[in-house]
Amino acid sequence: MAYHKVLGFDKEPFSTSPDPEFMHLTREHEVALTNILIELRLRRGLMVIFGDIGTGKTTLSRKLIQELRQRHDILFHMILNPSFETEEQFLSSVIRNFNIPHNVHSAAGAGEIMDLRDSVEKFLIHKTVYEKKTVVLIIDEAQKLNENILEALRLFLNFETNEYKLIQVVLLGQMELYPKVASMANFMDRISFKYTLHPLTFENTKAMIEFRMKKATDNPVPRVFLDEAIEEVYTVTGGYPRKINMLCHQILKELVVENQKIADRVFVKGVLDRQYGMRQSTGDEILQTSITNSGHSLIG
Ligand SMILES: Nc1ncnc2c1ncn2[C@@H]1O[C@H](COP(=O)(O)OP(=O)(O)OP(=O)(O)O)[C@@H](O)[C@H]1O
Ligand SMILES: [Mg+2]
Repeated sequence: MAYHKVLGFDKEPFSTSPDPEFMHLTREHEVALTNILIELRLRRGLMVIFGDIGTGKTTLSRKLIQELRQRHDILFHMILNPSFETEEQFLSSVIRNFNIPHNVHSAAGAGEIMDLRDSVEKFLIHKTVYEKKTVVLIIDEAQKLNENILEALRLFLNFETNEYKLIQVVLLGQMELYPKVASMANFMDRISFKYTLHPLTFENTKAMIEFRMKKATDNPVPRVFLDEAIEEVYTVTGGYPRKINMLCHQILKELVVENQKIADRVFVKGVLDRQYGMRQSTGDEILQTSITNSGHSLIG
């Protein structure tokens, strides 16, 4: 039997996938989401969400997509792994993923880039001005964008009418994105909403753990964690959602293995000792995972 079923859960409460159903909307996540939706409605162009590793950016983007899917006037594409080297690669990917008609006129080189940009602009005019749609490009892992692509995005934001931008760009990236955009004054200037996600507070850590357990069962939530266990989880993870998830997952598994039902502080410390061999440390090295995206993309 799956370990979580032994404890009374229908689903795994602490899976590491960025499932929006399991997202506890903290105040910060809510502010970010609401503001992005407002800016998209106003079609102001460029929104940037920063956040340390594992603070919930991808999960937030999934929640955003969930919202956008309900709106028929929105056409969006999400790039999960934007490691394009050149502007041509980036533009070609945009053209392919939005199904933009494109005829090759020029040979490779400057002429080709102009053709690609032209095709994108024509498409945007058609969709936004004539079909009254909002076109949104969401880029996760935006810290991987190089200067050429950031410049290409800046040029996208020059496509505009008197009232609005023809394309809306939402970037979500780790903190190393910040110096990249900060060094491009004319990019920074164009950001209509920027926001940074931080690790959770103790209250939000507790709320997130409880929320995820609630989502994982239709029955009353089994009492798995004593408050002191959650305090320990918070201390050792620093409130980083991915670390919280991984540690809680480990605790649940060990409860099953040890044939116990409730984790207290000592149990959590024991898990840290056994799994990570680092009772006294912050657990950073081990709990820090490198769950990387694999270049898939979503279109809606
Ligand atoms: N608000 C939240 N409520 C519940 N779970 C969350 C929340 N935020 C993040 N998580 C969980 O934490 C883990 C990491 O989240 P996510 O992948 O979104 O972080 P990230 O900021 O995109 O990380 P990275 O910088 O590595 O790309 C996921 O398992 C996700 O489900
Ligand atoms: Mg991510």
